Amino acid sequence: MTQGAGFDPGPSGGYGHGAAAPEVPPRFVPPVPPPSAPAPEPGPSDAMPSPTPEPITEPLPFTPRAPEPVASADEKVALGPTGRPMPVIPEPGPVATHGRARVVSMCNQKGGVGKTTTTINLGAALAEFGRKVLLVDFDPQGSLSVGLGLNPHEMDLTIYNLLMQKDVTLDEVVVPTGVPGMDLLPSNIDLSAAEVQLVHEVGREQTLMRVLAPALSEYDVVLIDCQPSLGLLTVNALTASQGVIVPLECEYFALRGVALLKNTIDKVRERLNPVLQIDGVLGTMFDGRTLHSREVMERLVEAWGDTVFHTVIRRTVKFSDSTVAGEPITSYASASAGAEAYRQLAKEVLSRWPDE
Ligand SMILES: Nc1ncnc2c1ncn2[C@@H]1O[C@H](COP(=O)(O)OP(=O)(O)OP(=O)(O)O)[C@@H](O)[C@H]1O
Ligand SMILES: [Mg+2]
Repeated sequence: MTQGAGFDPGPSGGYGHGAAAPEVPPRFVPPVPPPSAPAPEPGPSDAMPSPTPEPITEPLPFTPRAPEPVASADEKVALGPTGRPMPVIPEPGPVATHGRARVVSMCNQKGGVGKTTTTINLGAALAEFGRKVLLVDFDPQGSLSVGLGLNPHEMDLTIYNLLMQKDVTLDEVVVPTGVPGMDLLPSNIDLSAAEVQLVHEVGREQTLMRVLAPALSEYDVVLIDCQPSLGLLTVNALTASQGVIVPLECEYFALRGVALLKNTIDKVRERLNPVLQIDGVLGTMFDGRTLHSREVMERLVEAWGDTVFHTVIRRTVKFSDSTVAGEPITSYASASAGAEAYRQLAKEVLSRWPDE
């Protein structure tokens, strides 16, 4: 315990603190760093290497290390945009017969993260791969229906009628979309009444599951576009699903509320739907040119590991343009990077699903 100095283990002389002459080190003996170098880094940076990666519900206190995805001299494996090596995702095979649909909810109570965009475009890409797809607009905003060219004021029957009226059948409500092999259960503002009315029903959480039952033998995939809330409609969607895809915008506040979403999914699994699982977390509106986007992606992978899809959806105005055009990007701008990204997501999703 030489109390030589409060913070610096004595320089060269060590214990002999009496050495009055300050250091005038002849330049041939530089055994330790010059006195200007204070306590070396290992102290502070070792003390708290990573500031608790767990719940991440707050605005990301980033660790100081920069991700540096730029390839160094001879990079062996190409890293994908998530910072992990990009695997080769197999081409999906054809399906011999349709049916035994997998039901998947697009879910995040945060608004504007790409749920509807992902529902439309993932659905369209899956249809391109020969899957028979049913999209379910389960948001009273009706964005999915509008995004596929429907006029919310000109719908005879919507999912609201299917949920609330016993004499309305699925076939009566389903409408084709411009994409071959992809149909839609449309919605409009009427659906907001269902949330209130269902509260009084017996088995209220299973209502959507019941009305979707006839679709399962007809389609390969049912994608449910949830509204940005964790209310009864979303619980219905989760109860009807085997999988959840969580789109997350690649920006600082993206991870806020994710713990709550996970908690809701866990509760639905425990109490209502034991088979429910998270199929994947999808980074959307990614901009690889910004450190910001890459850091958020890094945190996403830290928090969710391989649940994060290797595919990310980059930010591009083509998505808004295609919404205005009322069609998926896969047909509106078929050769665009956005269309390709959703095709790759479709492949990745299929590679994760059992029975595919
Ligand atoms: N990758 C992207 N790049 C640029 N814009 C995008 C991208 N994905 C979605 N958008 C745009 O962002 C907006 C919100 O997207 P979207 O409607 O899919 O989100 P949402 O999660 O369904 O929103 P809500 O919670 O309101 O239902 C839309 O205008 C959409 O065109
Ligand atoms: Mg939406």
